Amino acid sequence: MQPAGFYDPERGYLGVTAELARLEAQVQVSWPQEERLLRAIGLGDGMGVLEVGCGPGFFTERLLTAFPSARVTATDVRDDFLHLARRRLRRVAPGRCRLLATSIADRSLDPDQFDFAIARFVLQHLRDPGAAAGEIRRLLRPGGVAAVIEVDMGVWGLVQPRIGGLDELYARAGRRGTDPGGNRLIARRLWRTLRQAGFTEVRLDAFVYHSDELGLDAFAHHLDPGHLFPAVTAGCVALTDYVQAKVAYEQFRNDPDAFVLLLGFVASGARPRTGGEAGAEPGAR
Ligand SMILES: C[S@@+](CC[C@H](N)C(=O)[O-])C[C@H]1O[C@@H](n2cnc3c(N)ncnc32)[C@H](O)[C@@H]1O
Repeated sequence: MQPAGFYDPERGYLGVTAELARLEAQVQVSWPQEERLLRAIGLGDGMGVLEVGCGPGFFTERLLTAFPSARVTATDVRDDFLHLARRRLRRVAPGRCRLLATSIADRSLDPDQFDFAIARFVLQHLRDPGAAAGEIRRLLRPGGVAAVIEVDMGVWGLVQPRIGGLDELYARAGRRGTDPGGNRLIARRLWRTLRQAGFTEVRLDAFVYHSDELGLDAFAHHLDPGHLFPAVTAGCVALTDYVQAKVAYEQFRNDPDAFVLLLGFVASGARPRTGGEAGAEPGAR
């Protein structure tokens, strides 16, 4: 399938294998917070759930396990990720999960089907996140709820003490090709994106995860400069800068006061029960 966006780990500095490890680690650190918020927003067991851009299925697995009667339709544009997801999810929930190779840009699914829809770290990669939000609204039944999980690098969190040289190293490595992170300032715009797509009862929630609870190791996939070694071999990062950042990271890991606090965002909204409610004032669900 042709991706309708920017997600392209082959061209990014990580490569596909490291990207898979990053996705798995990312679900592991923040799933409990995300689950709590999803439940608060209205996700319940027994629902028909659409997951847009499921990737290799790490998040899908959590969904199917935490909601043992949910029926999940998970979509993606990458055949290789869908293949991995299929292998993973066959074990977890045979018969409760449908995997489809389709782009959210394609309007290929029947409308009015789902009770709840989730797009996690997907809209940041799309050329037209507003159109994707509109398509998600079309796929929900009236009254169904969408949750868009995203980041915003303007308010990403705190790392203390700072790891000298790491920001610059990531910036240089990112210039190698397509940034696998896409528009990483997207969360600040999601409330209006959902509103403009015709959702009501729109809200924006944040979740926090912290190394005091999870341990510093859980954040290595975010912080360890070791991931950037491919950018050194590709010649976009100087070996001396890389080594300097590695040393700074080791100092950080050995500092008993070191901590990491990261923020994620969930924008959510409901498809109006009756037509023509776009532009109405938000209310409580
Ligand atoms: C950063 S990964 C996130 C995967 C998964 N949602 C997670 O949180 O682990 C982004 C995923 O979105 C998929 N994607 C990109 N454009 C898409 C589109 N137009 N329609 C559906 N999925 C898309 C990519 O193939 C990739 O699997």
